Amino acid sequence: RIAYVNGVYERASEAAVSIEDRGYQFADAVYEVWSVFDGRLADLDGHMNRLERSLRELQITMPMPSRSLLVVLNEVVRRNRIREGMIYLQISRGVAPRDHVFPANARASVVITAKPVDRDAAEKKAAVGIKAISAPDIRWGRCDIKTVGLLPNVLAKQKAKEQGAGEVIFVDQDGCVTEGGSTNVYIVSAEGVIRTRSLSANILAGVTRLNVLPLIRESGLELREESFTLEEAKASAEVFITAATSLVMPIVAIDDHVIGDGKPGPIACALREAYIDHAR
Ligand code: PDD
Repeated sequence: RIAYVNGVYERASEAAVSIEDRGYQFADAVYEVWSVFDGRLADLDGHMNRLERSLRELQITMPMPSRSLLVVLNEVVRRNRIREGMIYLQISRGVAPRDHVFPANARASVVITAKPVDRDAAEKKAAVGIKAISAPDIRWGRCDIKTVGLLPNVLAKQKAKEQGAGEVIFVDQDGCVTEGGSTNVYIVSAEGVIRTRSLSANILAGVTRLNVLPLIRESGLELREESFTLEEAKASAEVFITAATSLVMPIVAIDDHVIGDGKPGPIACALREAYIDHAR
C-alpha cells in the first residue's frame, strides 16, 4: 500500500510521522473517512466541508487548499489501484516540543492511507445484519468535531466485539441514544416513521446521514429528527446505522433484545440500496 505523508508518497509500511506530532501526543488532530466506489470518493463535498469545519473549530490552518487536497486524495486512490475501498485522511496541528498550548508556528501534518473493501462480503454482512450493545456515552461535549480522540469509542467497540456485537450504541444521561461508536443511529416504528437524533455538539454530523435523510424523504417515509430512548430503540420495528464505512447497516439485536424478527428490516435494506445507488 502507498501512503501520503506531508508531501511524499511512500510505502505505507515505511511511512512515519514525528514522535512529537501533536496528533500522537494530544490527539490534537482531525480525520475523515471516504468510501470509494468505482475509483471515486463518495460524498466528496460533504466530507470536505466537515473537514474544514473540524479544522476551524480547532483553529488548525488547512495546510493546503481543498482543491489541492482533492488532487492528493485521488492520487492516493490511483496509486493504490482502489476501485472499491476506503480513504483515511488525518490532519494534526503539527510537530512541536510537547506543550499543551498551541505551538507558535507549527505546520499541520497530513497523512492519507487507502485500503480496498470487499463489497460482496459487505453485502453478505448487511443481508444478515449486525448486533449492537448499549453503553453509557462517556465522551466529551464536542462530539461534533471529528477528532482522533476516540478512546471512549475504542473501548466501547472493543467491548461490543467481545460480546459478539459489531457496534456500540451510546446512551446519554437521560436514557436517550446519541449515536453509535462510529455511526449514526436510526429507529423505525411499526408505522414506518423513522427517527434519528437531531444534530448538536453531542453527536457527529454524519455525511452519510446528511445524504441518507433526503433519500428517506424522497421515498415518502416520515422522518423526525428527534431523540429516542434506548428502550424505544429496543421496542422498534427496525434499527439501522449509517457511516462511510458501514453505509446503511441493519441492527438486528441490542444487548439481549432481538429487534423485530431478528432479520434486517425492509426499510433499512431499501435505504442501503438507495444509498449505494447514490454513492455510485
Ligand atoms: N466514523 N458518528 C461517529 C462517532 C463516527 O465516528 C462516524 C464515522 C459517524 C458517521 O459519519 P459519516 O457518515 O460521515 O461516516 C457518526 C468513521 C467512519 C470512522 O471513525 O471510521
